[in-house]
Amino acid sequence: MDATLAAALSQAAADVEAALEDLLPLVESAEARLIEAMRYASLGGGKRLRAFLAMETAALFSDDRRCAARVGAAIEMLHAYSLVHDDLPAMDDDDLRRGKPSCHRAFDEATAILAGDALQTRAFEVLAEPDTHSNPDARCELVVALARAAGARGMVGGQMIDMLSEGQMLTAEQITRLQALKTGRLIQFSAEAGGIMGRAGMAQRHLLAAYGRDLGAAFQIADDLLDVLGTTQETGKTAGKDAAAGKATLIAVLGAERARDQAEALAAQAAAQLDSFGPKADLLRELAAYVVARRS
Ligand code: IPE
Ligand code: IPE
Ligand code: MG
Ligand code: MG
Ligand code: MG
Repeated sequence: MDATLAAALSQAAADVEAALEDLLPLVESAEARLIEAMRYASLGGGKRLRAFLAMETAALFSDDRRCAARVGAAIEMLHAYSLVHDDLPAMDDDDLRRGKPSCHRAFDEATAILAGDALQTRAFEVLAEPDTHSNPDARCELVVALARAAGARGMVGGQMIDMLSEGQMLTAEQITRLQALKTGRLIQFSAEAGGIMGRAGMAQRHLLAAYGRDLGAAFQIADDLLDVLGTTQETGKTAGKDAAAGKATLIAVLGAERARDQAEALAAQAAAQLDSFGPKADLLRELAAYVVARRS
């Protein structure tokens, strides 16, 4: 990975970790187990790619990193909830996440369901809090846009199609739509978030959305490739689960080589969406290449 991008990703990860620590304090009351499970699922792991996107797109418009770190933390909470539920026995039934036992294995199923629920509501609470942005319109737009990205017409809808598609032969177009919903919409929101925080005009917001959409599509193809070609050691997830579960992936339809070509083309297209932002978008362009080349 490009050294400047590596440094910026690890700085964003540190900033979002500190924000999450702050936003999810331990408690000593009877529900402590719930907070422990929320912290277990969201702290100390993950690439923090979505938070980085929010923070780096925000940096196109403003130097205020504190606000962007809170938005990044909210997105990472939403994302962590999606992973906790995705790993449940009723869904992908995965025992390993981020190199450690998945939340329902470390705690129990009921606790994992509740921790996911509470991570999701906390994410929206954080976006709506005055500390996140001085402008109430911006806070409201963040809440609405994340709700749309995460809900029935976004991530959760995509997860529904993903589950219904197990063992079914989908066309490449159907898989592309499934992936745009289950993964693309949250990544797209993460990229748009900087435009919302920065009160950018519609033209720039559309470019950020287009970048996020292409990046998200490339990202999920890379995830599917890693499931086949990566190791459990590299990804921190059990390798080879998709084929075993009969998941509808582009690899199953096109083969690994054509799927990789498609991911690379989408990453190049994502980077090109940012042409008009000039050199200050260089890291976001680098990120597009990294998303496809990554090994974890
Ligand atoms: C995994 O996302 C789930 C998908 C949408 C493919 P990431 O690969 O971003 O997971 P973490 O946050 O780095 O663990
Ligand atoms: C999950 O996709 C997307 C989510 C919305 C959580 P996957 O099921 O491929 O994600 P991994 O491979 O378990 O991380
Ligand atoms: Mg899944
Ligand atoms: Mg999964
Ligand atoms: Mg996967």
